[in-house]
Amino acid sequence: MIKNRLIGPFTQLLTMDNIPLGGSLNDNQLEIIPNGGVVVCEGKIVKIGNFDLLGDQFGDRNTIIDYIDTEMVVIPGMIDPHTHICWAGSRANDYALRLAGKSYLEIALGGGGIGDTVEKTRAAEPADLEASLTERAKTYLRNGVTTIEVKSGYCLNTEGELKLLEVIGRVNKKLAVDLIPTCLAAHIKPSDFKGTQPEYLDNIINELLPEVKRRNLSNRIDIYIDKGAFTTEEAILYLNRAKALGFDLVVHGDQFTEGGVAVACELGARSVDHLEMMNDQEIQLLADSDVISIVLPGSSLGLGGRFAPARKLLDAGCSLAIGSDWNPGSAPMGDLLLQTAIIGIYEKMTMAESLAGITFRAAKALNLNDRGVLKMGLIADMAGFSVADYREIIYHQGSLNPSVVWKRGERQ
Ligand code: NIG
Ligand code: FE
Repeated sequence: MIKNRLIGPFTQLLTMDNIPLGGSLNDNQLEIIPNGGVVVCEGKIVKIGNFDLLGDQFGDRNTIIDYIDTEMVVIPGMIDPHTHICWAGSRANDYALRLAGKSYLEIALGGGGIGDTVEKTRAAEPADLEASLTERAKTYLRNGVTTIEVKSGYCLNTEGELKLLEVIGRVNKKLAVDLIPTCLAAHIKPSDFKGTQPEYLDNIINELLPEVKRRNLSNRIDIYIDKGAFTTEEAILYLNRAKALGFDLVVHGDQFTEGGVAVACELGARSVDHLEMMNDQEIQLLADSDVISIVLPGSSLGLGGRFAPARKLLDAGCSLAIGSDWNPGSAPMGDLLLQTAIIGIYEKMTMAESLAGITFRAAKALNLNDRGVLKMGLIADMAGFSVADYREIIYHQGSLNPSVVWKRGERQ
C-alpha cells in the first residue's frame, strides 16, 4: 500500500493560491496557514491545512510523518523561468572590460561576448557540459529552486544545438530538479555561418527544429531581438514558422533596443524577457495581451544597467515573473532570490509581487499548471526557511537560504 507523508508543522505555510495572474498585489492577498501541514502521496499534494487536524485525519499506519521541529516558513518551490546554464568557459575577461568602461556590444565586436562562449561550448565534451550543468542545477535546488528553464544557444549549429538539448535532457532525467529546455539557436548568427541572417534562421527551421521535434528535445523556441542579434522583421518570419511547427514562443526583447515587445504580442509568445529599455506604449501593449513579462535583474546587475520597469508593468496590469538569466556573459551570478530582493527594493515591488514572480507567475510563463502553488493535486515542491515570518525571506536579500527543500514531497 502506498503511504502518505504528512509534512509539518510549519509556522507559516504560504500557499500562493487564489492570486490573480496579472497586476499589482498587496501582501494581505497572500494566503497564510499558521501551524500548517501538507499531506503528500506519490509526489502530489493530497491535502493542505492545519497540521493537527491533518494529523487527526491522516495519522495512521499508512502515513509517514516528516516532522519539523523548528520554526519554519514554507513556500512553493521556486521557479526560474529564464536561464542559459548549459555552457563552457568563463567570461571574466568580458567582465573586466565592462569594469573598464566597455559596453556589451563593444566587447562582443572585439571577440568576447556570446561568440566566445560558443567557441568554448562547441569544443566541450558532452560529459563535461553535463557535469557543469549538474553542478549549477544542484546549486539551484539547494537554494530552493525546484524548476529551471534552460536554454541552448551556445553552439549555434545543428549538431551542437542538439548536443546541448540532449545534455539538458540527460541532466533532467538524472536529477530531482525539473529542467525545462528551450531551443535558442536564434541567439545570434555565428561567425562561421556564411549566409545572411535570414538564411541562418531558414537553416534552423529546415534542419534543426524538425530534429528537435523528432527527438522530443524541446517544445519551446526563443529568439534574441536586438542590435547585433536579429531584427524584428527577421524574428516575425522565424517565429511564425516555428509556431506552425508547433513550438511555444519566447522572445528576448528590449534589452538594449525597443521593438521586441510588439513582436511577442503579435505572435502570441508565452513571454517576453528582459524589457530593460521598454517604453510606456510597449507596457500598454503587454497589458492588453496574454504575454507574460519576465524581468531579469541578474542581467542588470551583471551589466551595471537599469532594471526593467517592474512597478509600471504591474501597475498597468501585466503578469510579471522574475528570472535569473544565469549565463556566463550578462548575468554570471545565478542567485534568483537575491536578485528578486534587489529588483524589489529598487522597483518597489511588494513581497507578494516578488514571491508570485518566482512561483505561481513563473510557472504560468512556462505554461506549467501543476506547480507554483501549494494546493491539492499539484506537485509537492516546497522550500522551507527556518524563520517564523515569511517576510524574512525577501528582507534578508538572498542571504537567507532554505534549510529544507522538498521535490515531489521528498527531502533533498
Ligand atoms: O539574456 N542577450 C542575450 N542573451 C543573454 C546573454 C548571453 C551572453 O552574454 O552569453 C542574455 O542576457
Ligand atoms: Fe537571456
